[in-house]
Amino acid sequence: MTSIVGVTGGASGIGAAICTELAARGHTVVVTDMNEEGARALAARLPGAQARALDVASAAACREAVAAIERDVGPLTAWVSNAGVSRMAPFLDIDEDQYDFTLDVNLRGLFFASQAAARAMVTRKAGCIVNIASMAGKQGRVPFLADYVASKFGVVGLTQAMAFELAPLGIRVNSVCPGFVATDMQVRELEWEARLRGTDPASVKCQWIADTPMGRLEQPQDVARVVAFLLSADAGFVTGESIAVNGGAFMD
Ligand SMILES: NC(=O)c1ccc[n+]([C@@H]2O[C@H](COP(=O)([O-])OP(=O)(O)OC[C@H]3O[C@@H](n4cnc5c(N)ncnc54)[C@H](O)[C@@H]3O)[C@@H](O)[C@H]2O)c1
Repeated sequence: MTSIVGVTGGASGIGAAICTELAARGHTVVVTDMNEEGARALAARLPGAQARALDVASAAACREAVAAIERDVGPLTAWVSNAGVSRMAPFLDIDEDQYDFTLDVNLRGLFFASQAAARAMVTRKAGCIVNIASMAGKQGRVPFLADYVASKFGVVGLTQAMAFELAPLGIRVNSVCPGFVATDMQVRELEWEARLRGTDPASVKCQWIADTPMGRLEQPQDVARVVAFLLSADAGFVTGESIAVNGGAFMD
């Protein structure tokens, strides 16, 4: 049976690597992103993939996207809630706009995207969901990202709550917690952290590598391969887990 997987924030970075890895393993991937052009460009390069615009900050749009995928592509077997944003500022300077921006995508958006996917899956009593959290979802010792930390701790807790309620309904739910991943988000964070620390991005990058026992920046493919594992039969008895993929940068 064909496996149909929807991925949010799939146009770039970790999401694009997940779409690429899953397509290479024979899944039918639906690349969704608020950047519709980017989603279409990636889908055009992947065997059997399709693209769809989706801004996860709208719960209604999440429900419409899932309904459209089920109608136009087929029954969803898996879903990856990957879309996420970050902005860096000292805790004391974070205002309501920044808080809402971060939480609306990283937690509220993920909540309703994964809920929409789960509602479709329960009708068949089968499915698998992966939420992309972060190393910052397991430790708050992260500078200038208090709102992001709050959102990602929320994703880890939500993953457990979803897994608990959905296990009897045949749906597994897990998270992946990446570390310092070389993506556009990281480029932005290197600039912000350098400015906030009064140093340069190259020095911040050296520090992040020094903080990683495996001695290199994480690549998006490092995350994608673990997502593929969680969606596979090999992970068939794994649920409620938040798996660290960070080269040892944080161990719990
Ligand atoms: N890069 C890292 O170091 C790192 C570390 C840990 C966790 N993560 C998490 O991994 C995920 C992907 O991050 P990335 O580094 O690939 O970021 P990225 O900025 O490179 O890509 C994020 C993608 O999400 C899309 N997106 C943003 N807001 C959206 C919205 N409202 N609706 C739909 N799509 C939206 C963007 O258009 C973009 O294509 C995020 O959840 C992020 O928090 C990243």
